[in-house]
This record gives sequence, structure tokens and C-alpha cells, in this order.
Amino acid sequence: MCGIVAYVGQQEALPIVIKGLKRLEYRGYDSAGVALMDQRGLSVYKKKGKVSQLEEHLATFGRVESSIGIGHTRWATHGEPNDSNAHPHYSASGNIAIIHNGIIENYEVLKKDLISKGYSFDSETDTEVLVKFIEDIFVNNPVSLEEALRLALHQVVGAYAIVLMNKEEPNTLIAARKGSPLVIGVGEDEYFLASDATPIIEYTNKVVYLDDYEIAVIRNNRLQIKTIQNVETNPYINKLEMELEAIEKGGYEHFMLKEIYEQPKSIEDCLRGRLDAKAGRLVLGGLRDYMNKFQNAERIIITACGTSWHAGLVAEYLFEEFARVPVEVEYASEFRYRNPVIGEKDFVIAISQSGETADTLAAIELAKSKGATIFGVCNVVGSSIPRATHAGSYTHAGPEIGVASTKAFTAQISVLAMMALKLGYQRGTLPQSRYMELLSELEAIPSKVEKALQANDAIKYISGEYKDVSNALYLGRGYNFPVALEGALKLKEISYIHAEGYPAAEMKHGPIALIDEEMPVIFIATQDSSYDKVVSNIQEVKARKGKIIAVVTEGDTTVREMADHVIEIPRTHEAFNPLVSVIPLQLLSYHIAVMRGCNVDQPRNLAKSVTVE
Ligand code: G6P
Repeated sequence: MCGIVAYVGQQEALPIVIKGLKRLEYRGYDSAGVALMDQRGLSVYKKKGKVSQLEEHLATFGRVESSIGIGHTRWATHGEPNDSNAHPHYSASGNIAIIHNGIIENYEVLKKDLISKGYSFDSETDTEVLVKFIEDIFVNNPVSLEEALRLALHQVVGAYAIVLMNKEEPNTLIAARKGSPLVIGVGEDEYFLASDATPIIEYTNKVVYLDDYEIAVIRNNRLQIKTIQNVETNPYINKLEMELEAIEKGGYEHFMLKEIYEQPKSIEDCLRGRLDAKAGRLVLGGLRDYMNKFQNAERIIITACGTSWHAGLVAEYLFEEFARVPVEVEYASEFRYRNPVIGEKDFVIAISQSGETADTLAAIELAKSKGATIFGVCNVVGSSIPRATHAGSYTHAGPEIGVASTKAFTAQISVLAMMALKLGYQRGTLPQSRYMELLSELEAIPSKVEKALQANDAIKYISGEYKDVSNALYLGRGYNFPVALEGALKLKEISYIHAEGYPAAEMKHGPIALIDEEMPVIFIATQDSSYDKVVSNIQEVKARKGKIIAVVTEGDTTVREMADHVIEIPRTHEAFNPLVSVIPLQLLSYHIAVMRGCNVDQPRNLAKSVTVE
């Protein structure tokens, strides 16, 4: 949540910062602002709303020139979204401007102290408190600004990625991080700072990932990094693999649609180099050093949030079926606060698209402190979770920009399926012949997803029929139960229609009361081991005049006779059904949201990267 960008170099900073903010809007879009060193001195321009509204605001000032600048796009935590709560914030003298992603938990104590010293505040934010606190140390002690920042951070509790600009040093940016991400792009005679690499990629592929408790100073075209303990460290330059096209819409109307359509390729990218069904080869590099722990684990604990948690639920079925290991799937936010029983024999899998989710990170730290082995399944390379875990496998889905997760979900399941197959095989719970058969089936998934996407026009038609409903129910059993949850989440996130996912049989214990002729019920009714039971559940809904939309295996005739609409998907092994059955549900929510005029890529109140708890 909240995206930050900064630039210092020879070029005009403003266009670079604005473009960067647009790339980071997925992190929040309540307000946007920039600070520049222009003809007026250190100037802050900020506005409630999206970056485009900030651009309109900036246009009223004529040309603003600056070769240094910082920018921020906000997801509100402290204080409502308005102009004064927007970042950057000035210090009391107006000489320093700050941008901040994170939360300063002890800001009230600091604020009270500053108020008693005569400070006043223009906003309700914790960030304004932080910059005033830093300046208070700076003006009352004979120290540099970075030293004042360092001293201030010793007293700050919370999470932050911050960048400071100082009027007195027009070629200097000072940044620090703890808990929120910060990437530094190293160009020729120029530096870029951002919450992730997407604003940087078109200028340089050389990046330094700032670590927690590090302070970076870019002064006169030189980067210096010190720890908060004042120990200088050597910046390690990583090479970015990301391509620019991956973060552009490429002809699609929305990122979400592009990402739905990318799934045959993103799943293939995820399997590539790891799975060779013919040769019976399955290699996950990240597991190599931890295979022993994995194989001997007494229990697998999966922790995640949102869509990643749904992928975790699918994995529970996979691990238990193939490897016969007990699995618990935990919301990271609950797990971290309920004093869970964790031991050294536990193998914890943390799933996260962004690799930055605050609750998931905290759950990892907790499990680590109890001696468990932690394995990450993440998409964003170099993000915080992969760096906090003992080992992991990237999902290689490529940048996911639409706030509603789609291709990350199928890539997560693909990695988890490979892990479950590997574990089952190694533990001897999956006989060779079945193992080989499952490897082939998994390898065939990208082409089946491709086929499932061909139902798009039919799904668009169905969407038109149901776009005005107020509620929807998603039902599935077995492997398709987590898919029902995910389908409902997709619909409510982007179309604001209330939707619930349930195990189909549980319907009788409550949701059935909601069914009338207005209520669409989306069944995932593929031909698998629970098919007959689901068919009975469909009958129960039909008897109460509910409208039935069913996702079925191609060629199904039984459900076709009962349902108002059917969407066919190719047959696969039931364990891999979620990879295919989720596709029509993603498309359904996409089309309904577009027809309702919703902002599909940036739904209200949501952010893609949730770096606050
Ligand atoms: C937010 C996003 C979801 C995502 C969840 C977990 O709520 O909008 O799409 O599933 O966070 O994020 P993660 O990056 O940890 O997968």
C-alpha cells in the first residue's frame, strides 16, 4: 500500500516520477503528490484522487523544471483521503519534504511530544509527525540530515520506506527502509528509487534492494548505504530480468483481462525447466537444500492472505492426497496473533504474489522464531518475503498489475502442485505410474487453460444477463471448493456485488435461505469424485427457483438439462481442476464489472500490495 518514486540525475524528474507513480497506482490511489526543486524552491504539489488528477493540478502551474523529485501514491491509513493528508509532507520549516509507505505505530507519542514543543500539524498523518520529528533532531543537534534521520529511526516503531529531499542539498536524496520495500535503480549519472522495479525498468536493469534497517544516501551522483547502526555496507547490484512489455497493457482494455489471457503462458513459464513429464523429471531448485526437512515434516502449515490463501486451500487437498501429510491453512493475520503451536518439525509455506504482505511477513517471523522451516511461494523477485524465508520457489507469472489477482493464483497452484507431487513421490505415497500420469496431466494444463478461455464470448453473454444482481452464491466441492471462494472474491472485489463462496453441501446450513428466483448460483460442477453430490445440490437450488450457472466438464449433458447456463471446460485430473475451473469465474467477474462501469484494475478501497496489518 502506497507507492513511492524518486529520481535524481540529469533528466527532467517530473515526467519520470509521474510515469513511475502510474505504474505504482496498483498500490493505492486515494491521492497523489510530488515534491520538486523548481523555480519556487522546494515545492510540493498534491491532490486527492488518482495520478491523472495530480497531472491536471500540475498543469495549472505551467512548466515546473527539476532534476530531482519525489512522488507518492497513497492508500489511506491515518486520515481520510484528501489534499492535506496526501504526501509529500513538509517539515515545519518547509525545508524538508518526505514520502512514506508504511505505518509509524508510535506516532501519537511522538506527536504529543512535538506539540508540547510548539509544533502544529496540517494533516492527520503519521508521516507529517515523522518528518517534523526528524527535523526537530536535525535543527537541535550539530548533525547531518541523514544522521538526524538515523537517530530518529531509533525511536520509531513501525514500518517504513521513506525518501527525504532537503532544500539545502538540491542534489541529494536520503532513503530508509524497514518492513516496506524500496528498490534503487542505478543508471548512468542518475538514480531511481521506487517501491518496486516497475518504474525503473525502462531506464536501467541494475538495481539494489535496500534491506531493512538500511539508510541510503544519494549525494552528488554517488550511492552510499549504511545500517541504522552506522555501519557502511557494500551495495549489491542485481540485474533485473523483467521486460518492459510485461508491465504494459499490450492492446488489452485492462490489465486484468491481459493477465487472465496470459495464463496459458504464465503457467507454462512456471513449469518450464522444472517439469519434464516424458523424462519423469520434476526439479524445484528452491527445495533442493530443504528436501530432507520437507520430506520429514510432521506437518505442513500454509499461511497467506486473500487469493493466495485460496491457493493455499487447494494445496491442502494436494498435499494431503498425494503426500499424506497433515496440512493446516492459516490466514496470516489470525495465525500471527493466536499463539499457534509451531515446532521444529513443521514446514511452513508462505504464499504471496507481492512478497510484501505485512501479515504474511509477520507470520513468517513468528514461525521462524519457533524453529520451523519456512518456504516462500512468491511472484515478485527480490521482494521481502523471499528474503525472509529459508528457501522458496518463484511463481514466474510475470508482473501482475490488476489489483484482483488472476495469473498469480494459477501460478501459485502450479508451484504447489509440483511440490505436492515431488513430496508424494519422495515419501513413497505416490506410486511411480500414478506420479508419471500426474506429471503429464500437469504439463497439459496450459493448453487446457487456453481452451477454457475460448468460452469468453459465452461468458460475456451470461454476464450481460446477471450484471444487475445484488448477490451471488458460488458453490463447489473438493478441489473446487476453494475455487468457489475465489470466484466469489473476484466478483465482490471488482464489481461490488455481494458474493459468497461455500462448500456446496454446506449450502443447506444457511445460504439456501437466500435462494429465490433473483439469486444466481454459480456451481463448479466438473466430473470428478464429488460430481453426483454436486448434481444433487444443483437440484436443491433448482427446486427453489434459483438461477443456475454451471461450470461443467465438456460434453456434460446431465447438468446442461438442469442449469440456466453452462460453461464448458476441458477435462483434467480432478486435483488440477482449479487451474482450469477458475478461468471462467475470472472472466465472469471481469465482464460483469466492466458492464457495471467499475474500475476493474483499481477497485475502490483496495490495494494490491498490503503492507499494513
Ligand atoms: C490484496 C490483493 C489480493 C491478494 C492479497 C494477498 O488483498 O488485492 O489480490 O490476494 O492482497 O496478497 P499477496 O501479495 O500476499 O498475495
